[in-house]
Amino acid sequence: MTDLTGKVAVVTGATGGMGRIIAADLARAGAHVLTVARDPARADALRALIGEQAASRLEVITGDLSRRADVVTAAKSISDRHDRIHILVNNAGAHYSEHGVSADGVERHIALDYLAAYGLTTLLDEPLRRGRARVVNVASDTLNDTRQLKLAGRPRPATLDLTGVDELADLNPAKGFVPFEAYARAKLMTVTAGYALARGLAADGVTVNALHPGIVATDIIDDLVPTVLRPMRGLIRRGMLTPAEGAESAIRIATDPALAGVTGRYFCRDTESSTPPVSHDPATQRKLLALSQNHFTG
Ligand SMILES: NC(=O)c1ccc[n+]([C@@H]2O[C@H](COP(=O)([O-])OP(=O)(O)OC[C@H]3O[C@@H](n4cnc5c(N)ncnc54)[C@H](OP(=O)(O)O)[C@@H]3O)[C@@H](O)[C@H]2O)c1
Repeated sequence: MTDLTGKVAVVTGATGGMGRIIAADLARAGAHVLTVARDPARADALRALIGEQAASRLEVITGDLSRRADVVTAAKSISDRHDRIHILVNNAGAHYSEHGVSADGVERHIALDYLAAYGLTTLLDEPLRRGRARVVNVASDTLNDTRQLKLAGRPRPATLDLTGVDELADLNPAKGFVPFEAYARAKLMTVTAGYALARGLAADGVTVNALHPGIVATDIIDDLVPTVLRPMRGLIRRGMLTPAEGAESAIRIATDPALAGVTGRYFCRDTESSTPPVSHDPATQRKLLALSQNHFTG
């Protein structure tokens, strides 16, 4: 890994599966690492993984990234302490099998799997530009196929129709809620906004890319495995990538010198891949950014 001494990296979701590995690897490579955790005690395992010496370069900010106020407060405390950010890995995510809304009235997948990434990227705009940062969004290839069991038929991409949508709270409603599709839609939103943000940040050398890490044996999987397959969960997990293998892709996009200047791309692990046409639609991108900005500024 590249020497990251003197670099500042923000990694969300670093108390769990892949994020913990990403944060630990960046810290061990010399970076000063910040994370935002709902329960700071859960960062103890991260400290242990990083090792005593590098753990002094870890800062844990308390916050629930599905809450707008916490995203704003976290971004402020990060930018108050650091003039420049060199890496932002928007990795925190969850799959919710029941419909629910955040404290701000937005469906939970949209709040966490999309708005946290959008919020941190835009609220940290200045330090990211000063650091000529790499922004890495951990998405999911469910955006290309929302079938939970891919036994037959054709892939069914996630959809994003913003026609007549006045606020993000209108998306993923309780009526007709399908958890896997709601999760995939939020990831599609992250990629869609990411393409637009990549263009807006390019002049200052900031790159924005997204990735699918593979199917990785982490806590989120317990919720993503279809109910009929849950009794075989242990066996299924053994066939998956380890968290360390899953983390490789984000680490590579965040640090590999060969990817300097590469922006606005989507990778399935190491391979550049495509996303549904709607994610490239300028009108959808514009409207999504406007709705998202409105969510944060009122
Ligand atoms: N595993 C896979 O196969 C797979 C496939 C495609 C994409 N992904 C994506 O990969 C990313 C990492 O997931 P993972 O597989 O490593 O899952 P994980 O082990 O469940 O880790 C999720 C992380 O997100 C944090 N988080 C959840 N809700 C949060 C909130 N409201 N505020 C702040 N942090 C919150 C968790 O913190 P706590 O410790 O507080 O729970 C944890 O650190 C996610 O974006 C996920 O969607 C995973």
